[in-house]
Amino acid sequence: MKTKTLSLLALAGALLCGTTAWAQQQRVLRVISDRTDQGTLRPMLEAFEKLSGAKVEGVFMDQGLVNRLESRPTEADVVITKDAELLEIAAERGLLAPLTSPKIKAAIPKEFMGPQDMFFVDAYRARVIFYSKARVKPSDLSTYEDLASPKWKGRICIRSGSHDYNLALFGMFLASYGDAKGKELIRGLAANLARAPKGNDREQARAIFEGKCDVALMNTYYWAYMAANPEQKAWAESVGLFFPAQQGKGTFIMRSAAAITKASGQRDLAQQLLEYMASVEGQKAMVEATKQYSVLPSVPAHALMVKLGGEQGLVDGRFKMDFVPLPAMAGKREEVIKFVNEIKFDAER
Ligand SMILES: [Fe+2]
Repeated sequence: MKTKTLSLLALAGALLCGTTAWAQQQRVLRVISDRTDQGTLRPMLEAFEKLSGAKVEGVFMDQGLVNRLESRPTEADVVITKDAELLEIAAERGLLAPLTSPKIKAAIPKEFMGPQDMFFVDAYRARVIFYSKARVKPSDLSTYEDLASPKWKGRICIRSGSHDYNLALFGMFLASYGDAKGKELIRGLAANLARAPKGNDREQARAIFEGKCDVALMNTYYWAYMAANPEQKAWAESVGLFFPAQQGKGTFIMRSAAAITKASGQRDLAQQLLEYMASVEGQKAMVEATKQYSVLPSVPAHALMVKLGGEQGLVDGRFKMDFVPLPAMAGKREEVIKFVNEIKFDAER
């Protein structure tokens, strides 16, 4: 069986490379990504290697993805990011090649295609309210704005206001509600914190578990990671997830995305990887590895996450999203950084 698989792979490789022997001419696709945890991307890249016979080499970095792309434009064929906003910027700087694949265009819903098809959103997560199941009823919760009301005084935990996740969330507040209302909301949230922002997202769930606060703003996938971790399972079990604004504009999503670089000399192979990522199989691998939500309506939420939001009437883990356009958020980031510093969001209380 194994031999048969190998020979099929070799055949596929030989077809890809014309008449040249596959073994001598294995093609290499270079990927650049800000997914520092290679584990989340690795299963997908390995599946693609098997499928294509090509070898995928990666450059992984935490920060500075767009600048790296700009300073070394020929370094990578494909760029994969946790934050679609970065590809919006890369596209504006002329670093990406438009996607022309009919397969990708047919598969990916329009709202998940980047402007001028310069990239596509490959998955998304939401930044939602984690609440203490012991001390908060889902009916106490409604919108993001509500977290600024006096009833939450001293009850909210959140990580640093300057962390990327909160900058993205606060940027969406400004882009979706307008600058004045968005800032009022950030100020109100800061006034209601139970303690100075500290720790990562999961630490906020731990604080709820330990009774230090009643609600926290966190990314959805952390629930699944905690539930699967013996040391954090109790934290996960102590909290429920509430998807804000389901009766209104919807819950904010954070999009991850993929694109082909303008300088790529391997656009066909790069496109093949992106087509795989947009396929049902690729999306299932993405959901499994990252615990994000698939952009394909036919791919269900992760098994650990399918019941989340059930208390508020959500079915199959599906929720209404607020599609804040990425270009509308681009200018907000700097403004939010300034504002968060100005109001001393992270100060001791
Ligand atoms: Fe994260």
